[in-house]
Amino acid sequence: MTKRRKRLLTGDGVPSPREEKATAPPRREKKKKTDIGKVFINISIGLCIFSLIWFFYALYMRSALARRVVTLHPSPRVLNVSSSSPAVSPEKFWGSHRPHVYFGMKTRSPRSVVTGLMWMRQFADVDGNLRHTCEQGDRLQGYGWLMHDGVSFGVQEIHDRDFTLTTEFVKRLGGDHGGDWTWRITAKQHSSAVTAPVISLMCYAATDVQGSLQAHVEEKNHLSSVTGTSEELGNFKITFGKPTAGEGAAGKYAKYNYLTTRSPGLDKLTDIAKNSLSHKFIFSPPKGEKRSYFALDSHKVATHHNQQQDPKIESDFVVHQVTVQTPFQMEVLFESGSFRDRPNQLTGSVLTDELERRKVAFDEKFEGTFGLQAKKFTSSQIKFAKAALSNMLGGMGYFYGQSVVQSVYNEHPLLYPESPLFTAVPSRSFFPRGFLWDEGFHQLLLSKWDAPLSLEVIAHWLDLINIEGWIPREQILDDEARSKVPSEFIVQHNENANPPTLFLVLQKLLEQLETDPDRLSSHLPVLRRLYPRLKTWFEWFNTTQAGPVANSYRWRGRDKDTNLFLNPKTLTSGLDDYPRASHPSSEERHVDLYCWMALASGIMANVARILGEPHKVYKNTHLTLSNNELLNELHWSESLRVFSDYGNHTQAVSLQQEKVHVPPGQPRHQFPVTRLVRSVRRAPKLQYVNALGYVSLFPFLLHILTPDSPKLEHILRDIQDPERIWTPYGLRSLSRTDPLYMKRNTEHDAPYWRGPIWININYLAVRALHHYGNIEGPYQEKASAIYQELRTNLIQNVYKQYLETGYIWEQYSDSTGRGQGSHPFTGWSALTVLIMAEKY
Ligand SMILES: *[C@@H]1O[C@H](CO)[C@@H](O)[C@H](O)[C@H]1NC(C)=O
Ligand SMILES: *[C@@H]1O[C@H](CO)[C@@H](O)[C@H](O)[C@H]1NC(C)=O
Ligand SMILES: *[C@@H]1O[C@H](CO)[C@@H](O)[C@H](O)[C@H]1NC(C)=O
Repeated sequence: MTKRRKRLLTGDGVPSPREEKATAPPRREKKKKTDIGKVFINISIGLCIFSLIWFFYALYMRSALARRVVTLHPSPRVLNVSSSSPAVSPEKFWGSHRPHVYFGMKTRSPRSVVTGLMWMRQFADVDGNLRHTCEQGDRLQGYGWLMHDGVSFGVQEIHDRDFTLTTEFVKRLGGDHGGDWTWRITAKQHSSAVTAPVISLMCYAATDVQGSLQAHVEEKNHLSSVTGTSEELGNFKITFGKPTAGEGAAGKYAKYNYLTTRSPGLDKLTDIAKNSLSHKFIFSPPKGEKRSYFALDSHKVATHHNQQQDPKIESDFVVHQVTVQTPFQMEVLFESGSFRDRPNQLTGSVLTDELERRKVAFDEKFEGTFGLQAKKFTSSQIKFAKAALSNMLGGMGYFYGQSVVQSVYNEHPLLYPESPLFTAVPSRSFFPRGFLWDEGFHQLLLSKWDAPLSLEVIAHWLDLINIEGWIPREQILDDEARSKVPSEFIVQHNENANPPTLFLVLQKLLEQLETDPDRLSSHLPVLRRLYPRLKTWFEWFNTTQAGPVANSYRWRGRDKDTNLFLNPKTLTSGLDDYPRASHPSSEERHVDLYCWMALASGIMANVARILGEPHKVYKNTHLTLSNNELLNELHWSESLRVFSDYGNHTQAVSLQQEKVHVPPGQPRHQFPVTRLVRSVRRAPKLQYVNALGYVSLFPFLLHILTPDSPKLEHILRDIQDPERIWTPYGLRSLSRTDPLYMKRNTEHDAPYWRGPIWININYLAVRALHHYGNIEGPYQEKASAIYQELRTNLIQNVYKQYLETGYIWEQYSDSTGRGQGSHPFTGWSALTVLIMAEKY
């Protein structure tokens, strides 16, 4: 990418032939008076200078415009560079901030030393079952954090084919570098297992460009510890305990192997380990059969070289392998060199006691925050809710790097400035990176658990804003993240928005703060630093996403190739394939974006008022957009009695086999396979889109409708109708009566927001029912009744699917309730916890 950028800039520097011509002197005619000649010369010199100035000005403007997309907002950052350092925030320095691996820890710093776990089942019928990064293809029966306080400890269970690994960590503060931590990994076979499986655990440490590691090998390939040093961690030591049958029990027969090598990048660790496996080692337990097993073999790997690395460092990737038969447990101890006065080592019974203490504290805080016991949920339901919250906390990652972005002024993509992002990921397996619109929903849950944590996450996102007011919506910051994304989705375009859901959580945080003047005043400095950024963010939406008529709004960035899609997608709205106008045009207006803007302007008015900043302009915009008459005028479709988008639209579209002309006498197979292409049977015209589903509910979902609005009656009717939106498992995204209900968008593109049940929107729906059920109005009772029923259905189904499948899912089938899509998905689907707790 850097190379490309250079090419672009030098390309600009070469004057075009047209401009060269302009600078050529005009012909001079014979026998003309010399002063006329002089005038001509003067004029032409003037013209020449002028055109040169103009040329350089244009050049300057063009390169200035081209740089804008990668120019950060000029106001002081909300979080300074040191905010996550061990000096300022020691308790959060180390953490499970690598959500894309089953188990691993790193520090909140740009080039952290990382630690992690891989494992494999020996003597299995399938080879190469090395587990490391969370992969749906591993087909685990379930995994995820059961308890995690977001800071100091966590307990995770991983259910592999015939055994379960429990991975626990506890941190202990001390010294200047974030202190110590210990892992305990426990393996137990399932009761159904025929024999006790033999498992290899591979615990590793790797440095990412900075720092060095030194392996300490005892007799017989036994790597007992690693010492190391890095800028952020100082000196440290990692000790690998021997496996035992349990705490205080005798050691077990184990075989040891290790690997020390250099890796070209963190995204290559799995491959390196896999490629170094050799089958020449023998596992021969006393009284047991001798068998050869797979193990790491340093001799098998070629050392890779990375130009950024210091050539003096021999290894930056060290793996300790221990092979044992279940059941067993082992501990890995990290000790910080600057922690000098530790009372004892955090192992054995000391660790057990520490874990117990944290678990009790976690349970108390959980009940204090969500009160699920008080609401008479069963202990199994509460365990599920704890797992949902914990996996969102355990799914928080710290990423550092550069997005790849592009504006209309860039011929080629550019690299965005290097930045950190501390964020909760939607799915540890499938979406292990930051997503702007998911984040607002994540923080609705996390702000109840730890409000300062949420503010820190919001601050990270707003520190990513550029001078235009744009925030790249998908954050793919480092090589590990990029290795998970198809290349066509990596470049982020600066005309593309994403729903500003951060306003949802800001609203909640402001409500919390305003009831507590002391806390409010301690948070004012952060709010003050956030404010100029929020302002630019709002302005960016209000201008770049403005619609064709006054006070209307339109999502930019819809799919352009209309011929290939049943309905061109609107990824930027977050609702990808939800039906919009069939023919994208600048005449469109989108009701969901209108409602997001109504919400955002109201919150902006509040923030401005609290900070004593001018807030009238926000207040006015909010009043205008909240005016239900304007909303009706722009978006109410009387023919279907729904709120609707408006645009160049026809319903008469379908996907058909493309006709390929095969000349007579020529073999058919020499011609391309026919594709499905769109056929339009009736020409589009400007009209309401008349889709019924999540988008039509937005004026209700975001509380824009006044409680006495007669439109509420229609909305409540549609919600309750099983032929339209109601299902026994939650509200479906698109009415069964819609022509595009459960229709594929292309032959390879299954329906996504065209029927399935999504928990984020269902959360907004129960929240809205709760809202309208608690304020006076003609529909109050009806809203209350639906509220109870919808809430119960949602909780029951997500819980039932979790028990049956081991996972919380991305979406749920509207016909069977079954979980589908990516899993685990403890991003917004974890909002089930708030629905259980009735926290809205
Ligand atoms: C950086 O932020 C931290 C915490 O927000 C604060 O304690 C520290 O003084 C700040 N440092 C600078 C240089 O502004
Ligand atoms: C948003 O845009 C509209 C239309 O241009 C304008 O009238 C309004 O003042 C803007 N609101 C804010 C808060 O800037
Ligand atoms: C609607 O789309 C059709 C087909 O692309 C186009 O010919 C027509 O001009 C569009 N109408 C408007 C008002 O944009």
